[in-house]
Amino acid sequence: MTKETEKLLVKTALEYRKRAYTPYSGYKVGAALLAKNGTIYGGCNIENAAYTPTNCAERTAFFKAVSEGVTEFEAIAVFGGYDGGKLKVCAPCGVCRQVMAEFCDPDEFIIYIGTSEEDYKPHTLREMLPFSFSPKELEK
Ligand code: THU
Repeated sequence: MTKETEKLLVKTALEYRKRAYTPYSGYKVGAALLAKNGTIYGGCNIENAAYTPTNCAERTAFFKAVSEGVTEFEAIAVFGGYDGGKLKVCAPCGVCRQVMAEFCDPDEFIIYIGTSEEDYKPHTLREMLPFSFSPKELEK
């Protein structure tokens, strides 16, 4: 990925964070998912009064893409933190990592997390979810 695309991905995640619907936690997360075809899908967390229907920013982005027929991905940027506060490193939750494992190559898919447009790091999906249960396990 070019540095320009990487920067755009980070910017997009930060932009989508502003759309987070978080009346219960106040913790806002934005994600930007880069498909192999070059399209970027943004996502934010969407909370719910019944709590468990809450959807994380990462899954919002993945489900937007997959519902548009796009299933091949290169990278995702994720930024989170309390409304009005400093960003904290927001490592994707286990459920979101599992969704990534469904569609992404563990050694190629990159997850960018950090605390600002200037301060973030890449991690492979394998680093984030080692020894995972993926579609390979269901091959007969
Ligand atoms: N959240 C995300 O959107 N992504 C993560 O990877 C971690 C958690 C959301 C869910 C909930 O709305 C809020 O952050 C606090 O857990």
